[in-house]
Amino acid sequence: MERVYIETYGCQMNFADSEVVGAILRDAGHSLAGCVEEADFVLINTCAIRDNAEQRVRHRVRELRARQGRNKRLRIGILGCMAERLQSRLMTEEDNVSFVCGPDAYRRLPQLMAQVREGQRGSEVELSTTETYADIEPVRLASNGISAYISIMRGCQNYCSYCVVPYTRGRERSRDPQTIVAEAKGLFDNGYREVTLLGQNVNSYRYDAVGFPELMAMVAEVSPLMRVRFATSHPKDLSDELLEVMARYPNICRCIHLPVQSGSNRMLKLMNRKYTVEWYLDRMASIRRHMPDCSITTDVIAGFCGETLEDHEATLELFRKVRYDYAYMFKYSQREGTYAAKHMPDDIDEAEKTRRLNEIIALQGQIALENNRTEVGREYEVLVEGESHRSKEQLFGRNSQNKVLVFDRKDAVPGTYRKVKVTDCTAATLIGELID
Ligand code: 5AD
Ligand code: SF4
Repeated sequence: MERVYIETYGCQMNFADSEVVGAILRDAGHSLAGCVEEADFVLINTCAIRDNAEQRVRHRVRELRARQGRNKRLRIGILGCMAERLQSRLMTEEDNVSFVCGPDAYRRLPQLMAQVREGQRGSEVELSTTETYADIEPVRLASNGISAYISIMRGCQNYCSYCVVPYTRGRERSRDPQTIVAEAKGLFDNGYREVTLLGQNVNSYRYDAVGFPELMAMVAEVSPLMRVRFATSHPKDLSDELLEVMARYPNICRCIHLPVQSGSNRMLKLMNRKYTVEWYLDRMASIRRHMPDCSITTDVIAGFCGETLEDHEATLELFRKVRYDYAYMFKYSQREGTYAAKHMPDDIDEAEKTRRLNEIIALQGQIALENNRTEVGREYEVLVEGESHRSKEQLFGRNSQNKVLVFDRKDAVPGTYRKVKVTDCTAATLIGELID
């Protein structure tokens, strides 16, 4: 049986999928290698969302070619969104890749690998309308033993005009809530204290009578000592009902990631986002009404097709209004096959995209620092996660708002809740001291 090393790029969903892949391979008798050096197979779970994500993977595949020169047994398989997008074309372009396997075909991995050992190359890229891997107990690959991902729904059919995800991950489908609650319970019993419910579009979750708010309540009931987070929500269906459930359970974390993409109604329409800036700001107001201490984060795209300076200014203005605690900020990257690629010219030049992006980054950095400065003096319950990267004498953890707090270790141990008072900050981190 082969020794397999799994390498993961991209979003949280990919990390969760790699843990499902790990379980499928282990159940088929393979062992999971701790590093490439020990592996017969390297599986690369890939992202296709922007061109630079794909280039990173291409670079890695070419780097592994040298290793294959030294180890003739070593094979490479490509999983995930890039496999789905490029299919067998990828094996033509990268001739040291033995197979491609899309996000809904992971149960076929053992056969694919056997086929490769017999000298054939393979491609499994069929998308499914039903696959949720609900019965598979993931191998917790990336885990610290304290927090874990639970995938609750897959796919997306919003068709934002710039986005490749509906083509690489297929239609939306939700997983049986009983299997989700059972997974959460199992994690809690094994010492985990935080779960993040994952889906491309979690608030579209629906399984028979159970919608996302009901599911959140069911998972929150597993234990008041287990924190529950979720990602990602679409603004168009962030309901008051969900906010009410969040407010009712203190163990549902006070943190909402709500990608805005642009602060201009004209751009939002071209992006097919199905909401307006006014609707988005109304959702912000509702979040703050229900949970005044809720942290809000976002995604934004600079330089989408036809974006004028006025549109860009509207994005900056929205950032000044909302005052996000964190933002993932990107330059628009045209993706083949999307509505925008087919019908809208990618007409903002690279230097101008960079300039606009940098303007957003600078503004957001300043806002994050100002937000953090208001935290000094506040006290938080922190779930201790581990040793700080800077010093062995310090630990780090997160508060409910998902902000990282660093503090002197004293008698604290990872996996427990402690009270920390904030004494100082940077734009990215709160610095504090144990007070219990
Ligand atoms: N170009 C740049 N950013 C993109 N995103 C999605 N598609 C693209 C694209 N073509 C961003 C969006 C999304 C996040 C996951 O990636 O902001 O919310
Ligand atoms: Fe892409 Fe839009 Fe679906 Fe998010 S909601 S995955 S941005 S199509």
